[in-house]
Amino acid sequence: MGVDRITGEAQDITAKISAHYVDNARNLPWRVPPKISASGALPDPYHVWLSEVMLQQTTVAAVIAYFQKFTKRWPTIGDMAAADEADVLAAWAGLGYYARARNLYKCARYVTDELGGVFPSREAELLKLPGVGAYTAAAIAAIAFGERAVVVDANIERLVARLFVIDTPLPTGKTDIRIGMDALTPKHGAGDFAQACMDIGASICSAKAPKCEICPIQTHCAAHAKGDQERYPVKPPKKAKPLRKGRFFWIEQNEKLLLLTRPSKGMLGSMRALPDDNWAAGTNGHGKPPLHGNWQIHENVVQHSFTHFSLEVDLAVYQSDKIVINTDDNKNTELGPELKDAIWWPIEEIEDAGLPTLFAKAVRWAVKQKLKE
Ligand code: ADE
Repeated sequence: MGVDRITGEAQDITAKISAHYVDNARNLPWRVPPKISASGALPDPYHVWLSEVMLQQTTVAAVIAYFQKFTKRWPTIGDMAAADEADVLAAWAGLGYYARARNLYKCARYVTDELGGVFPSREAELLKLPGVGAYTAAAIAAIAFGERAVVVDANIERLVARLFVIDTPLPTGKTDIRIGMDALTPKHGAGDFAQACMDIGASICSAKAPKCEICPIQTHCAAHAKGDQERYPVKPPKKAKPLRKGRFFWIEQNEKLLLLTRPSKGMLGSMRALPDDNWAAGTNGHGKPPLHGNWQIHENVVQHSFTHFSLEVDLAVYQSDKIVINTDDNKNTELGPELKDAIWWPIEEIEDAGLPTLFAKAVRWAVKQKLKE
């Protein structure tokens, strides 16, 4: 392992990365640009927290629009805390992994109600907040408060693993990667330094075809010297994901679609969705429709990949003008109990329903079919 070799060079490497950032930092809405942060200005902790939670889900390019939407609608953490959880979840739709959005809201409530709207500045205190893990706590402490915290995200992992040729496969290799990043992290400006490494990781030290010819630390990089950059970080052997089958039910009446709110516990909890057949990570769905009717089955209209399994979705379609829901005495003649609180949503406005991507994919497929009819 090469971490020992590098400690003598650490200051040199850190200085080169920091200097590169001054002229090459990406201009991102949650950042204070390096020429301004040099005078001690720090970004808004609310912005840093929000962006870091979002950035765990998807790319910088995709996060920018969500970040702007959220901060326009909820300019402060207190504004988010005062919102309905359902609105925060619906605004999150498309980013995926909704447990994060629920924790985001919980954290907004906690910081507002228990901490007077002020984020703690120390890593150890940040770690106690809902949904804030080791990475996010270090990132907020360093970026928003100027604390010396060691920040390691996937971009930094790749950069450090190459620099030090860390051969131990992930996740065990993370220990050495952290030691390497710790050796590089400066006492002052740890936040900008981390973001400088992230930027190099994203735009130069890319997973495939890294642009070593423009890298400011090329002469220090042991993987470059060996010519096997793409081997790092060394990944563990891939486990095959199980494939599950599920069925969504498209129930349509007068250009409106029946939507329900999923139970708060479980996958995609509390999200608005089409009725489905209870597929799960460990089992296929039962396939049975929630009400009698003349169903048309369209097989395998959506394929979706979750962290631990893949899902193939059939769409069952039923159009009828005889479905009665939410009558005054609540005696639905047709609907099963799982549809008791369902609502009719105009198909024309379905993009506003805040459906999770998995369901939005099925809806888009069906709308496209309708247009072809
Ligand atoms: N990825 C995670 N956090 C980031 C940040 N602050 N800037 C750029 N990319 C990031």
